[in-house]
Amino acid sequence: MFEQLSQNSSYRNLYQGQWADGVHGDTISVKAPADGKFLGTIPSLHKDEIDAYLRSARDAQKSWADMPVNERARILRKTADILDAGAKEIGGILSDEISKGLSSAIGEVHRTADFIRFTADQGELVEGRSIGSENFPHFKKDKISVVTRVPLGLVLAISPFNYPINLAGSKIAPALIAGNSVVLKPPTSGAISGLYLAAAFQEAGLPAGVLTTVTGRGSEIGDYLVTHPLVDFINFTGSSAVGKHIAEIAGMVPLMMELGGKDAAIILEDADLELAAKLIVSGAYGYSGQRCTAVKRVLAEEPIADELAANVLERVKKLHVGQPKENADITPLINTHAADYVQELIDDALQKGAKLLTGNKRNGNLLAPTLFDYVTADMRLAWEEPFGPVLPIIRIRNAEEGIELSNRSEYGLQGAVFTRDINKAFYVASRLDVGTVQINGKPERGPDHFPFLGVKSSGMGTQGIRYSIEAMSRPKVTVINFQGI
Ligand code: NAP
Ligand code: G3H
Repeated sequence: MFEQLSQNSSYRNLYQGQWADGVHGDTISVKAPADGKFLGTIPSLHKDEIDAYLRSARDAQKSWADMPVNERARILRKTADILDAGAKEIGGILSDEISKGLSSAIGEVHRTADFIRFTADQGELVEGRSIGSENFPHFKKDKISVVTRVPLGLVLAISPFNYPINLAGSKIAPALIAGNSVVLKPPTSGAISGLYLAAAFQEAGLPAGVLTTVTGRGSEIGDYLVTHPLVDFINFTGSSAVGKHIAEIAGMVPLMMELGGKDAAIILEDADLELAAKLIVSGAYGYSGQRCTAVKRVLAEEPIADELAANVLERVKKLHVGQPKENADITPLINTHAADYVQELIDDALQKGAKLLTGNKRNGNLLAPTLFDYVTADMRLAWEEPFGPVLPIIRIRNAEEGIELSNRSEYGLQGAVFTRDINKAFYVASRLDVGTVQINGKPERGPDHFPFLGVKSSGMGTQGIRYSIEAMSRPKVTVINFQGI
């Protein structure tokens, strides 16, 4: 089904409904982070090619928007079926490409299929409204405003390495159902997976040009893309640093940004510690900590901190460290730079007197799961996002201190509070400056129709299926004036 995507491991871009090599012939080699295995090459596009690709996407948009939404939904549902059918093949590539456990990688493909199907259903339910003039003080009954929703035009979707299928699909599907055309810039690590996703849309019968892919390093083509005059909306997921840079240069183009996080789990002394420890470990170390919503700090009330730390430690020691194909919990990080950065944070915490409970072992990009107790506010680990398998426990006197430490962060993605007292739970939840608070649960994005957003350096705009469709469409107002008959 995906044969046309590549020739002799040379992957190509989707351009005008065909698989195209770059005209200049420049390519980037993609290698598996776990063992360095060569996976293929992707085109490194030049500016003139980007101009042509964006132009074709823009040209295709109008007739796509004119297609009845039920027909657009049919193509999305077919895409979802193709993804489900190809989940093993695509998941295998994804697992190799970003060093994600094979079952999780296959699960990501199925999750994306579910997302796309739900988007098709939700898109068919989008309705306009009419508003009478007499609803407003001193106005007569002589006007009706008919409000429909129309697409924005060309959506530029930029996805990160850690969910190369899901965080591309969750941009593309809502954009398409709303009648936009989409240009996908996949992450360089994860690009092949992104191209497979595009192939599923193409195979499902998406008209030529409605989805286009542009591969190349963000550091080389990113600025050109995000300032391109043909782009009507930028939907970006990635680091706060790149997100802020895009926001600075993008001008008047509307933005959706899902960025970094430093999610805190606040554990109050009356919490169910078994539950808290279990969810802290799965939340912090899943995909080796490379999730925006990973638990990145534990703020534990002093009276239960010893017991909690011991429980968490016992579970961390049982994590399976190994290779993605073995479905290990902890696998090699995406690249050496990422592993070096995590090591820096570990070294800083050690040097400043944090107590190492386990970990701090390294073999290339593979870092053992690392747990610290007695982390304090002067340590970088208390504030920075490691995006790796290291977790600090910070001891707090009371809930107020937990709230204060949580809110002092530059980030505001999610937070969690564990307690058996619903009053305390709501009190803490109401005071955390984050997009979402989980009560007795770990931070996580799904289910994918829930609103998902970050505040402060964690983002702008709201994702989640209905919210994403709304964000990538706008009201169109037609006023019928009927005075004077
Ligand atoms: P990243 O380095 O910011 O890259 C994200 C995407 O931006 C990649 O496709 C990258 O391309 C591209 N890019 C780089 N420079 C660019 C530029 N100047 N203009 C336009 N695009 C550019 O992030 P990452 O390392 O892939 O992902 C990890 C980060 O994403 C973490 O901070 C994590 O918390 C965050 N994240 C947030 C969410 C959320 O929903 N809040 C979800 C997932 C991840 P190249 O790959 O070619 O460099
Ligand atoms: O990495 C960020 C993702 O949006 C998190 O999704 O909570 O389902 O792992 P997740």
